[in-house]
Amino acid sequence: MDSTTNFSQKHLLGIRSLTSHDIQYIFRTARYFSDQGINATHQYSFLKDKTVVLGFFESSTRTRCSFELAAKRLGAQTLFFQPQGSSVEKGETLLDTLETLDAMGTDMWIVRHSINGSIDLMTQYSHCTFINAGEGNSEHPTQALLDGFTLVEKFTSLEGKKICIVGDILHSRVARSDIYLFQKLGAELAICGPDIFMPDLREFPDVHRLTTIDESIEWADAIIMLRIQKERIVDKNIPTTEEYTLSYGLRMKHLRIKPSLVVMHPGPVNYGIELDHEVAHSPQSVIQRQVRNGVAIRMAVLTILSNHNIAYAGV
Ligand code: NCD
Repeated sequence: MDSTTNFSQKHLLGIRSLTSHDIQYIFRTARYFSDQGINATHQYSFLKDKTVVLGFFESSTRTRCSFELAAKRLGAQTLFFQPQGSSVEKGETLLDTLETLDAMGTDMWIVRHSINGSIDLMTQYSHCTFINAGEGNSEHPTQALLDGFTLVEKFTSLEGKKICIVGDILHSRVARSDIYLFQKLGAELAICGPDIFMPDLREFPDVHRLTTIDESIEWADAIIMLRIQKERIVDKNIPTTEEYTLSYGLRMKHLRIKPSLVVMHPGPVNYGIELDHEVAHSPQSVIQRQVRNGVAIRMAVLTILSNHNIAYAGV
């Protein structure tokens, strides 16, 4: 089993550099945690000698809480860092912050940042292991992994499955990481949204482009709804909420047309815009399952990047 147990990366910065083996290895390890239990009654010690910094330079609920719980349940010491109330407000740079915390004896950084390339830059100035927890509109690898893991739970395999991502694709790091991951897992992808939220045609040549929510529902086995990411939008010429909701919002009437359709959303949801509350809480929605699986996936990633090998040890 040894050739199948090595992970190819020191950091987890994106999905593109992962091999199929890496992905299956993360999924197997996450399965282990999910089956054994991910709540506080299951305390593991794989990270007992690690100090993990949660560097959230952008706001977050799910990703931050999920990473924090994952690290704590693995026995790590965690240190939460956010720019508000720190010396960043006095002009301290990202690299100074990094150097300062490194000097205190840190081992891993989980970073969310609004600027593409910032985490890669950090890796060049530190001995620590880095995990991208959402960077600009580039990648959000653990979100894609938890999405993929949730879909594999549902469908067993993604080979030939049709997955459509609807909404603000252009500004979405989730959409990018999802597309990279699902294509590696053999799925067929489509994106749908107003032209202003569509990436350049050259970015995803193998991804279908659909124009209406009805067409997307008819085509897809699973649909991933996205929020309009206003904080990243520069072009203000965007559709009004009413126009957007009418053309791209997912309602109960849509679910009734296709009871087999699986509904996902990375959160946070803007209810009544891309998705109704009833849709999010319907039996076709796996949104809460995504959140639960997020903890197992993050426990797996942290364990693997700390060079512990659960699948190999057979524990
Ligand atoms: C996403 C993000 O931050 O990229 N949320 C998340 O991590 N669960 C999606 C979003 O903000 O819309």
